[in-house]
Parts: sequence; C-alpha cells; structure tokens
Amino acid sequence: MKIFDMEAVSNKVRRNIFRTFFFLYFFYTFTRLKSEHNNNPDMENRSLVTIAEHSKEKILYLLEMAREFEKNPNRKILDGKVVATLFFEPSTRTRLSFETAANRLGARVIGFTDPKATSSSKGETLKDTIIMVSNYADIIVMRHYLEGAARYASEVTNVPIVNAGDGSNQHPSQTMLDLYSIYKTQGTLENLNIYMVGDLKYGRTVHSLLMAMRHFNPTFHFIAPEELKMPEEYKLYCREHGLKYIEHTEFDENVIAEADILYMTRVQRERFTDLMEYERVKDIYILRNEMLKNTRPNLRILHPLPRVNEIAYDVDENPKAYYFQQAQNGLYARQAILCDVLGITLDDVKSDEL
Ligand code: CP
Repeated sequence: MKIFDMEAVSNKVRRNIFRTFFFLYFFYTFTRLKSEHNNNPDMENRSLVTIAEHSKEKILYLLEMAREFEKNPNRKILDGKVVATLFFEPSTRTRLSFETAANRLGARVIGFTDPKATSSSKGETLKDTIIMVSNYADIIVMRHYLEGAARYASEVTNVPIVNAGDGSNQHPSQTMLDLYSIYKTQGTLENLNIYMVGDLKYGRTVHSLLMAMRHFNPTFHFIAPEELKMPEEYKLYCREHGLKYIEHTEFDENVIAEADILYMTRVQRERFTDLMEYERVKDIYILRNEMLKNTRPNLRILHPLPRVNEIAYDVDENPKAYYFQQAQNGLYARQAILCDVLGITLDDVKSDEL
C-alpha cells in the first residue's frame, strides 16, 4: 500500500496553485475596477436613497436651492437631459411634481405609471429594468412597493436614483418639501415640537422626517393606536441620536396644545395584510376644526396627502392648515433635488441667465 501517492499530491498542489492564482487575479481586477469607478467623477453615484445620508449642511443647502427655485421655477438648466419616472405604485403629487419640476427646468420626461403595461409584467427583473432605463435617462425617479428597492436600484446603475418612496421605508424627497414647509412657516427648523399622528408604523414620510430632524433638536410626540405605533427601530434611532419623544394613544385638544407642527398621516390601507385590522383603525383619529381653538398661533398642520378621513373638511379653511401649500413646495424642493443629483450647484442656479 502506498503511503504517499506522489501523482495525486502533485495534482493537488497544481490545483491549489491554480486556485490561488485565479483568486489573486480576480481580486486584483475587482479592486482596480472599483478604484477606477471611485476615482472617476463622471461615475460618482449621487443618488438620493435615504435622507439619513444627508448632513445638516447639505439639507440647509438644498433648502436654499429650493428657495431660489421658488423665486423662479422656470430655468432651462436641465436642457437636453432626460428624467425617467418609474412608478410601480400609485402617486399623484410625487410623480406630477417631479415631472413638472423637470419640465420647468427644460428636461424631457419618460416613464410609466402602470407597471402592468411594462415588461415587468412579463417577468423582467427590477435589475434589468433599471439597467435598460439607464441606457435612456440621466436620472431615474422611482417609487416601488418593496422596502430597499431604491437602494438596490442605486447599486446596479451609475445613473442617479431618486427614491420616490420604497414601501413603508423612506420618502426622502417628501422630507425635503416637509422641511422646506416647516422652515417657511416657523422661520427655523430648530427646537420645535413636532407631533406625528396616525399611521406611524407604515407611514414612510414620518420615518424619513424623523431621521432628517435629528440635526435640529426636536421634541417628538408620536400619537398612534397600539397597532400603528412608531416601530421600535425608529425609537431606537431617536435614543441613539438623543432625540426626545413621547408616545400617546389619545388624540384631543389637550394633547396637541403645545404643538408647532401637527403632521397628520393617512392609515395606509395598502400595507395591511389583515383588512379587518384596517377597518378597526382607519378612522381612529380625525382632526376637527374645533380641536384647534387653543393651539399655538404658529401651529401649522401638515399632511403628505392624500387625505382620506383623518382631517375634516372644515379644517381646510383654518389658516393653520398648510397641506396644500406644502404640496406646492414639493415642486421647488424637487427641482433642487434633480439639480443636485446631476451635480448642478446652487451657484449654477443663481448664475443661470433668466
Ligand atoms: N405625498 C405623496 O407621496 O403623495 P403621492 O402618493 O400622491 O405621490
């Protein structure tokens, strides 16, 4: 019996040398390509996936750019650019304000609002759709029902992705218009009492706003029924960032007496797996005009919209109602976002020939 089969040993050594060589070659090629990608400014990915990635300075800078666009939204600084709007979920404000923003800046818009009319209904993957649209457009604005879809899209293309809402996760462009609305109505973003009311579990707008406000020392009041409470991960985020929050289940005039901002939200029917549960909670909180009598003079009522039942129609006439102006602010905030992801600066905007 042979103790060492020299031929087998030498085959094994050859295989190991080959494997090591192959691994080193792959590692070298991957590292070189990644370094080229990182060093090439043309390939820098300027996507807006989550507001958490923006510093305080960056947020204030974008708000200043939005203010510039409010002075004059018609500037042809995106002439020759193509903006794709891919909406895998329904939308009125987000899509139309992004498209208006692009049109007023001179860009052209392509896209879809009904994924059933696209090849995704034939089984095309999101990755393939994003790679294809990247061949045609300079920016992709995407709303998707899956949490993390925008992050994933940003990883499969170098065309900037703007997250227009991914499931119940994030809605960063909504947050920019919310911040702009808060700043315009309060004159500051600092030290405010922000009351978030309704569906804090599935509402992506409150999740994004909470993260952005970490720079501005807010005191949050979370008003929600047990079933729709602010998720633990966001409360943990508050604790980690030293943000004060108080939770309530009651919603009445006493609870909101100290509010600067009352951020109402709709109960998100489309996220419920149990429609009986939706029926139980859908009308749990309704803001009525008489509840506003003793509120602070500076109070403003925001809502990302659409509204279902949570704000009675008599509130619309109250000067503290600000949700329709808030939606209008979306145009200017989204013009700033489109420019920023394309590398157009505030100075470029200011110096643009009108
Ligand atoms: N606020 C918001 O996202 O509205 P739409 O769903 O109409 O875009």
